[in-house]
Amino acid sequence: MIKETIQLNVNGHVYSLKKGRDYEEADTLSKVLRERLGLTGVRVSCEQGACGACTVLINGKSALSCMMLVTEADGCDILTIEGLDGSDPVVDAFVNTYGPGEGTAMQCGFCTPGFVMETHSLLNENPNPTDAEITEALSGHICRCGCYHGIHKAVEKAADHICKCKEEANE
Ligand code: FES
Ligand code: FES
Repeated sequence: MIKETIQLNVNGHVYSLKKGRDYEEADTLSKVLRERLGLTGVRVSCEQGACGACTVLINGKSALSCMMLVTEADGCDILTIEGLDGSDPVVDAFVNTYGPGEGTAMQCGFCTPGFVMETHSLLNENPNPTDAEITEALSGHICRCGCYHGIHKAVEKAADHICKCKEEANE
């Protein structure tokens, strides 16, 4: 049966969306997040699942929002870059990776939300990833500014920070 209303829990807010008013059956999740809810931190570039720019977390795991119908997200918890707080350790690592030998984790910043959300997904599952695991996790993302080295460093820094906080909490 086709539903007339869906519910999305986005960044802690529950939205009841009505078909025909808020979304159409064929709308992607990225379209509704950006154009109906105004969450333009969800970037859309290729719309073919090939660049990772539109990555959000769905129930804690990364997903390409351009490759999902909004109706598939009915009832899900969705986190976008706008839902991270100002002290988010992953955002902090991306912003503060620019020193000698590190490269920079961002230039234009277009790809950054997708990389940040992917990093959260990785660290949710695996707080202490190896180099190879970081490379694998980021492999679906394109940075047209070529900041790959800095992005890798930023993920390492965020993982270190999260592990240290967990160790301190357990002392
Ligand atoms: S815009 Fe979704 S993967 Fe490129
Ligand atoms: S920082 Fe420009 S596309 Fe990645």
